[in-house]
Amino acid sequence: MAFELPPLPYAYDALEPTIDQETMTLHHDKHHKAYTDKLNEFVEGDSALQGKSIEEIMGALSGKPAGLRNNGGGYWNHDFFWKSMSGEGKQPSGALKDAIEAKWGSVDDFKEQFNAAGVGQFGSGWVWLIVGQDGELAITSTPNQDNPLMDVVDVKGTPILGNDVWEHAYYISYRNVRPDYLKAWWNVVDWDVAGQRYEAAKG
Ligand code: FE2
Repeated sequence: MAFELPPLPYAYDALEPTIDQETMTLHHDKHHKAYTDKLNEFVEGDSALQGKSIEEIMGALSGKPAGLRNNGGGYWNHDFFWKSMSGEGKQPSGALKDAIEAKWGSVDDFKEQFNAAGVGQFGSGWVWLIVGQDGELAITSTPNQDNPLMDVVDVKGTPILGNDVWEHAYYISYRNVRPDYLKAWWNVVDWDVAGQRYEAAKG
């Protein structure tokens, strides 16, 4: 059973003006589709991968080809990313908001640290809010399409939010100004979904 490109959970223009329709269309229909297709090629070529979930594949990448890591990560990361956003202007609440304030002082201070990690990720990659292996919230970044679920990364944990800092995520509207994209991205974060992920990770 091949992996399928999941549809966007909203319209291509739902995140305007923060993320423009053209970016969303290319990002989902071209980039995410390419990761999905290439992941399926690796699965077809390795019987040990067949029938495994994407989480199982990412948890056992050691010794596997770099292309499986890159395309499996690209497949999972983008699905997670689409589901992390909403055009409805959500605000942090509940246990996640409390935990962020306990850790960073305020939600604004947390956002500043997260954005700094996104700016500091050299080249292409991702910035994450995770529940780490110690059960605490943490900010981490990964190169390429790596993510904190992979057995081959240094900082592992359960992702709560992730922002894509590849240029393909922001170049049409923000050109080379990644810090502006990182700041604006909070307008479209789905804090309800993040809160549910946090409760599940802590539960
Ligand atoms: Fe991307």
